[in-house]
Amino acid sequence: MIDLFPVNKGDFPEPVVVTGAGGCIGSWVLHLLQRAGVSVIALDLRKDTRRPSLLMTEEELASIAWLEGDISDPKIITHAVEQHKASAIIHLAALQIPFCKADPILGAQVNVVGTINVLEAARQFGIKRLAYASSIAAHGVFDPDTLSTLYGAYKYCNEATAKVYMQDWGVPSTCLRPGIVYGVGRDQGMSSKTTVAILAAAMKQAYTVPFLGPVSWLHAGEVASAFIKSVSQPRNEARVFDINGVIATVEESIKVIQKIEPNAQITIEGAPLPFPTNLSDEPLRAYLGDYGSVNLVQGIEHTYDSFCKLVRSGKIGPDSFA
Ligand SMILES: NC(=O)c1ccc[n+]([C@@H]2O[C@H](COP(=O)([O-])OP(=O)(O)OC[C@H]3O[C@@H](n4cnc5c(N)ncnc54)[C@H](O)[C@@H]3O)[C@@H](O)[C@H]2O)c1
Repeated sequence: MIDLFPVNKGDFPEPVVVTGAGGCIGSWVLHLLQRAGVSVIALDLRKDTRRPSLLMTEEELASIAWLEGDISDPKIITHAVEQHKASAIIHLAALQIPFCKADPILGAQVNVVGTINVLEAARQFGIKRLAYASSIAAHGVFDPDTLSTLYGAYKYCNEATAKVYMQDWGVPSTCLRPGIVYGVGRDQGMSSKTTVAILAAAMKQAYTVPFLGPVSWLHAGEVASAFIKSVSQPRNEARVFDINGVIATVEESIKVIQKIEPNAQITIEGAPLPFPTNLSDEPLRAYLGDYGSVNLVQGIEHTYDSFCKLVRSGKIGPDSFA
């Protein structure tokens, strides 16, 4: 799978700081950069390597510098960039939809102030390689068919802020709005349940996906590769792109799971998710060039096989199944 997402070490003469490095997408970013021999600084609230260790050996993980800190504290990111002489930032740290709803002030501190801290650090150190995560949920601000959420409002605010940083201070950035990400490491958030269905099949457990209809299937390796490609060269604009992967219904994807594991007991209930599914990756691919892609069967098969191996090795146990 990793061979689908080659990274050219020569594109990264200086270290890359990755915020939210212990998250799902962050783990894949660390994995791809580490395998290519790129110097990477992982930044997260705590050194919780549970997700990265699903993809990397202990030895590989040990080669990555790890900084603990809260992204809502401006000193954390400036210290990371300054201390390690980094010239690129991939900013992924965030609280997802349910966590922003449960604590709106904390959500704004992490998702909004945290991003402003990253932009400020980029301004202070003249960083021309900055990519950050928005979300498909940002469409809720302007599209009446998309659910409005605080999370989406915060993400949209970041997009508007980043454009002003370019206009007023020449801080370029590439913003990706991922659809629904799946794959090893995806274990929290409202839209993680398609991955949970694959895990359930691997653990021989029955599971009901709580939504149906078309969803985006964006492999975590594919979106990680796009973030890396975004910072593989200096930029001179602030751009915002959707990144959606494959569009398929939950129903179709369950057929794929059942072809791989005929005894899988996966059912569906509920209504379609209130997010757009018809977004195109073409503008992003035209901007970045090739960053690899995974089709649905390939992605589900690889995720299923990886989960089976992780269950056998004891890295994933019954408590991973929610
Ligand atoms: N997974 C998806 O389907 C999806 C879809 C759209 C957008 N995104 C965005 O992509 C990014 C990465 O998503 P993910 O799925 O890897 O998320 P995740 O929830 O798996 O990981 C987020 C990481 O951010 C860290 N974090 C939280 N608060 C922090 C703080 N105050 N300081 C430092 N680190 C903090 C967490 O510890 C965690 O490791 C996020 O910005 C998310 O909003 C994800």
